[in-house]
Amino acid sequence: MGVQVLPILLVFLLGDSIGDAATNPYDFGAIKGLMSDWQNTPPNWVGTDPCGGDWDGIVCTNSRITSITLSSMGLTGSLPGDIGQLSELQILDLSYNRGLTGSLPTQIGNLMKLTNLILVGCGFSGRIPDSIGSLQNLVFLSLNSNGFSGQIPPTIGNLSRLYWLDLADNQLTGSIPVSKGSEFGLDMLLHTKHFHFGQNQLSGTIPSQLFSSGMHLIHVIFDNNRLTGSIPPTLGLVQSLEVVRFDRNSLDGAVPANLNNLTSVQELLISNNRLTGPLPNLAGMNALNYLDMSNNTFDATDFPTWIPTLQSLTTLILERTQVRGGPPVILFSIFSLQRVVLRHNQLNGTLDIGTNRGNQLQLIDLQTNFIDNFKQRAGGYSIEVILVDNPICLETGAAGQSYCTIPQTNTSSYSTPPNSCIPPVCNSNQTSSPNCICSYPYTGTLVFRAPSFSGLGNLTYFDSLASSMMISFQFYQLPVDSISLSDPRKDSYDYLLLNLAVFPSEGVSFNRMSIYSIGFVLSNQTYKPPHLFGPFYFIADQYTNFAEVQVPTTLKKSSNIGVIVGAAAGGFALLLLLALVGVYAFRQKKRAEKAAEQSNPFVNWDPKKSTSEILQLRGARWFSLEELKKHTNNFSEANEIGSGGYGKVYRGTLPTGTLVAIKRAQQGSMQGGIEFKNEIELLLRVHHKNLVSLVGFCFEQGEQLLVYEFLPNGTLKESLSGKSGIRLDWARRLKVAIGAARGLAYLHELANPPIIHRDIKSTNILLDDHLNARVADFGLSKLLREGERGHVTTQVKGTMGYLDPEYYMTQQLTEKSDVYSFGVLMLELLTARTPIEQGRYIVREVRVLMNKDKDLYNLQGILDPAIGLGTSLKGLERFVELAMRCVEESGADRPTMGEVVKEIENIMVFAGLNSKAESATTSASYEEASKGYATHPYHNEDFSKYSGGFPPSRIEPQ
Ligand SMILES: *[C@@H]1O[C@H](CO)[C@@H](O)[C@H](O)[C@H]1NC(C)=O
Ligand SMILES: *[C@@H]1O[C@H](CO)[C@@H](O)[C@H](O)[C@H]1NC(C)=O
Ligand SMILES: *[C@@H]1O[C@H](CO)[C@@H](O)[C@H](O)[C@H]1NC(C)=O
Ligand SMILES: *[C@@H]1O[C@H](CO)[C@@H](O)[C@H](O)[C@H]1NC(C)=O
Repeated sequence: MGVQVLPILLVFLLGDSIGDAATNPYDFGAIKGLMSDWQNTPPNWVGTDPCGGDWDGIVCTNSRITSITLSSMGLTGSLPGDIGQLSELQILDLSYNRGLTGSLPTQIGNLMKLTNLILVGCGFSGRIPDSIGSLQNLVFLSLNSNGFSGQIPPTIGNLSRLYWLDLADNQLTGSIPVSKGSEFGLDMLLHTKHFHFGQNQLSGTIPSQLFSSGMHLIHVIFDNNRLTGSIPPTLGLVQSLEVVRFDRNSLDGAVPANLNNLTSVQELLISNNRLTGPLPNLAGMNALNYLDMSNNTFDATDFPTWIPTLQSLTTLILERTQVRGGPPVILFSIFSLQRVVLRHNQLNGTLDIGTNRGNQLQLIDLQTNFIDNFKQRAGGYSIEVILVDNPICLETGAAGQSYCTIPQTNTSSYSTPPNSCIPPVCNSNQTSSPNCICSYPYTGTLVFRAPSFSGLGNLTYFDSLASSMMISFQFYQLPVDSISLSDPRKDSYDYLLLNLAVFPSEGVSFNRMSIYSIGFVLSNQTYKPPHLFGPFYFIADQYTNFAEVQVPTTLKKSSNIGVIVGAAAGGFALLLLLALVGVYAFRQKKRAEKAAEQSNPFVNWDPKKSTSEILQLRGARWFSLEELKKHTNNFSEANEIGSGGYGKVYRGTLPTGTLVAIKRAQQGSMQGGIEFKNEIELLLRVHHKNLVSLVGFCFEQGEQLLVYEFLPNGTLKESLSGKSGIRLDWARRLKVAIGAARGLAYLHELANPPIIHRDIKSTNILLDDHLNARVADFGLSKLLREGERGHVTTQVKGTMGYLDPEYYMTQQLTEKSDVYSFGVLMLELLTARTPIEQGRYIVREVRVLMNKDKDLYNLQGILDPAIGLGTSLKGLERFVELAMRCVEESGADRPTMGEVVKEIENIMVFAGLNSKAESATTSASYEEASKGYATHPYHNEDFSKYSGGFPPSRIEPQ
C-alpha cells in the first residue's frame, strides 16, 4: 500500500504549499464570519489570505481550507453558521476552548467533506442539530464534555462511515434512538467501534435492537445515566466487545446468560443498578481484567467457583451482592490479582490467603461480613486486609490488629521523577520539567474510562504511560522536551484521572502551532495509551503563555505540521506517518537549500537539530540515512559485525558515544513496507530488560534500517561454542536461562496483544556486559491479533532443530511453540550442542539417555564440560525435567513461559543462587509490561479503512 500511496502524497504535498493561490472567497468569507464572532483568534490571522499566509491552525489544499485545528487557544464566542460555507473542510478541532458556547449551527450539516468533528471540552449547549446526520464522510465525532442537551439525534445512524462516537459527559436526555420504518437509529452504525455515552441523563430502556452480531463495537460505555429495563441479550452477540460499562443506571432484571459469550471483554462494570436474579456466571469471559457487579440485588449465592478461573483478573468488586460461604483460598492465587473488594456480604468462616498468592495483590476488603478467623501465613503481608465489622474484630484483643481498622486512604503519590538531574527553583509561574528545565508546560487532565488495573501504587504503569506518550510526540516531531504525569486518582465514578504536563523543548513556552498540534494528538486519539489504560479523553487547561513567533508575511510557510498531524489525525497507519515524515524531511531539506537566504523561523522543527535531545529521552527515533552513514563510517566493512538473511549488521557510534547495532536490509531481501512497519511497531511496543531494545530506525531512499542498542558480549551461541572467550558455568547458565525465559514470558503474557517470537535459538539470545540474556530478533514474530488468541494459522517459519513439531504439522502457531524452542535452548545450555548435530537430535538424545535413578540423570556424557563438571551442579536434574516438559509433543502438555520462569527461579533458589535480588527486579520489570507505543484495547483498529485521511480520497483502503 505504501508504495502506491507515497508518490501520490508526494505530489499532493509538494503541490500544496508552494502554490500561490489566494484563498477561495467563500472560504475567506466564512473565516471572516468566525473571526467576527470569536475572541482570541491567533494574532497572525491578519490579511485576506488564510491559505497563502501563515494562519495558525489553518491548512489548505490549493485555495480551499481543508483543516481547522485550534484546540486550547482560549477562543471565546459561538460557532456561527458561516462555518457551513467551508465546503472542503475535512477536519474541525476546536477542543478545549471552554469559552466557545451556544448551540451548534444547523449549517454544520453542509460540511459534506468533514471527516473529523472534534469539540471536546468546550462550552457548547443546546440540542445537537439533526443536520449532523448529513455528514456522510464523518469518521470521528467527539462532542464529549460539553453541555449538550436534548435527545441524541437519530440521524447519527445515517453516518455509515462513523468509527468513533463520543457523546459522553453532557446533559443528553431521552432514550437511545434505534431505527424504525424510515427513521434512522444508532443500530445502523455497523462500523462504529466506540459508543461513549456515559455521564448523561439518558433514560428509557437500552433497546435490544441497538446491538446485533454484525456490529464491530469494542467500547460500549453507558455508565452514569438513567437507563432502565434489563440488559438486552443482543449485547451478547457483539463478539468484538472489549469494554462494557453499564454501571450507575437503574437497570433491572436478570443479566442475560449469553454475556458469557463475550470472550474479549476485559472490563465489565454493571454495578450500582437494580439487577436481580442469580449472580451471572461469567466463566467464559476469560479475558476479564476488571469486574464490578456491586450494589445490585442478586439472589444470595455461595462464592462463585468460576471467579477463580478468570486468570487475567486484576480487580474483583462484589460489594453487597449477597455472596455467602467461605472466601476460597484459590481466589488469591490468581497471578494478576490486585484488589478484591467483597464488602457487605455474608462471607463467613476463615480468610486464608494461602501461600501461592499472586505477587500483585494489594487489597482484600471484607468489611462487614462474618469472617471469624484469619489464617496468617509466615513471610508477612504487604497486602492490606480489612476485616472491620466482622466477628473476628469483635474478639477481645482484636482491636489492636491492623486488619481491624480502616486504613487511611492511601492515595498514590506518583509524579514523573526528574531524569537524573536536580530540579532548579523556577521563577514566577514556570515549572521544572523532568529534564530540570524551567518552562511553561501545557497542562490538563487525562481521564481513563475503564483502566484494566486498580493498583494505583504500581508506579511503573505511569512511567510506561509517560514514555509511550513521549514516543508519540516524537513521532510527530513536536517540540516537546518531556512530559510529566502526576497525582493518579480515581473519581467517584471509577474513572482514573491523571494530571499531564507537556514541556516545550524550544524556549520556555510553546507557540500556538505546537499547542494545537499537541492538543490534536490528544483530542483526536492519535495517541494510543498502553493497553492497560483503556479508553481515555483529555481535557486541557487553557494555555496562556504562548510564545509569539513573528512571522514576516513575506516569508512562505508551509503547513507541514498541520499536514503531518492532520494526516495522523484520521489515525493513519504508522506507515503513512513514516511516509509523511519522510516527505517532511525531504521538503525540509529542499527548503533549507532554497531558503538559505532567509532565516527559517521553523528551525525548531528540524529533525536533525533535536537529535541529541530526543536521544536523551530513551525513546526510539527516526534517523536520516545521512546520519547513519556518518555513524558507521559509510557502512564500512570494519564496522560490520554480522550478517544474515536479512542483510548486514553494523556497529555504529552515535555522537553521544553510545554504541549501536544497525541492521541494514539488503537490497532485494527487503521486507515489504508493511512488515517493516510491523516490526518497528512491535519493537516500540515492547520494553523489558531481557529484550533487546530499539534505539531508532530509518526508512528512506528505499533503505530499511533498524538501530538497536549494542550488546558487547555477542550471542549465546558464541559463548557456548567458546568463541567469545566467556566461560559459562552452571550459575551463569541459569542466569541466562532465567533472563531469556523472562523476556519470552513478557512477550507472551504481558505484551498486548501477545507476541509469539517464532525464532527462539541461541543466536537470537544476546548477552549484555553482566551476562544477562536479551532476546533479540523479532523479524518473524507474530502478533496475536484480535480474535486470534489461542492460535493462528501461519506459514511455518523458524529454525530447524528448534521448531515445534506440532506447529510444523498443524501450522497452528501458539505460544507453546516458543516454549518448545525454549526447551531445546535449555538442552543446548546444558550440552552446548547444536540441536541437530551430525544427524542427531538433541531432544531425542536426552530422552534416550535420561535415567532418573542415576546421578545427574545419567547425562554426564553429553553435558558441556565447561559447565563445571565435578563441581556442584545443584538443580541440574530439575532443569532437565523442566526442559523435557517444554519439549513435550503436545503443546497442551508444555508449561507456559510464566510457569517456566517460576520453576527456574525455584531451581536457582535450590541451587543456592541469589534469585531473591533477581526476582525483585523481575516483578518491577514485569510491570513495565506495556511500556511502549500504541498498546491499548483498540490497538488493532485500522483507522485507515474509514479514515478522515488527508486527503481521504487518495488513500486506498487496505
Ligand atoms: C451464546 O450463548 C448462548 C447461551 O448462553 C448459546 O446458546 C449460543 O450458542 C452462544 N453463541 C455463541 C456465538 O457462542
Ligand atoms: C455501593 O453503594 C454504596 C452506597 O450505597 C457506596 O458507598 C459504594 O461506594 C458502592 N460500591 C461500589 C463498589 O460502587
Ligand atoms: C457459613 O454459613 C453457611 C450458611 O450460609 C453455613 O452453612 C456454614 O456452616 C457457615 N460456615 C462456617 C464456617 O461458619
Ligand atoms: C502568574 O500567574 C498568576 C495567576 O495565574 C498571574 O496573576 C501572574 O501575573 C503570573 N505571573 C507571571 C510572572 O506571569
